Amino acid sequence: MPDFTNRDPRTPEFWDQRFDGAFTPWDRGGVPAQLAAWLASAPAGAALIPGCGSGYELQAFCAAGWNATAIDFSPSAVVAAQRAVGPWRARVVEADFFAYLPAQPLDLIYERAFLCAMPRDMWPRVVQRWAQLLPEDGLLLGYFFFDNNPKGPPFGAERERLLQLMSAHFDLEQEQPVGDSIAVFQGKERWMAWRRKKAL
Ligand SMILES: C[S@@+](CC[C@H](N)C(=O)[O-])C[C@H]1O[C@@H](n2cnc3c(N)ncnc32)[C@H](O)[C@@H]1O
Repeated sequence: MPDFTNRDPRTPEFWDQRFDGAFTPWDRGGVPAQLAAWLASAPAGAALIPGCGSGYELQAFCAAGWNATAIDFSPSAVVAAQRAVGPWRARVVEADFFAYLPAQPLDLIYERAFLCAMPRDMWPRVVQRWAQLLPEDGLLLGYFFFDNNPKGPPFGAERERLLQLMSAHFDLEQEQPVGDSIAVFQGKERWMAWRRKKAL
């Protein structure tokens, strides 16, 4: 691994250094199979892709008719995504997930390697923000990483901890193993769909 000066994944500079140094082991270089299959059969709506990195999935959402926006707080990630998504580059926005306000109400948030990019003490804030951004019955859909290595990123979840964190706001509606993981996530990620509960 290159010798990076920034070791704090809470900062955009951490991620800038890794994109600028072409050290992106989480980057799968395309759209994962379960998302592609899901998009082929689901009705379109408004979607947000937080922490999009290279953002290949934005293209898949837009091509399937979704009004999708991809955000990232790292300027270098935004440049990478704008390059990767071609005609949809205007849908990539530089923004911090915790401050971003969508231009229209959302139906769906897509998750991949965003929760696990953040130290575990930030997770309650992430779940809270997902819940704030989604309406009742909205979907949080994508890939969740399970591991107990204290070091990261990626920071993996313990299953019970994730279920406990999510249970105040979401019901787990679908879960499957993943057959096309890249090396860092191999055998440790699950495809999951979480339905936003009625707000209390
Ligand atoms: C491990 S990468 C994953 C990128 C992409 N989701 C993927 O699957 O390839 C994590 C990304 O989240 C972004 N990120 C981390 N914290 C963020 C925040 N608070 N707001 C927006 N983006 C954030 C980073 O800049 C980085 O691009």
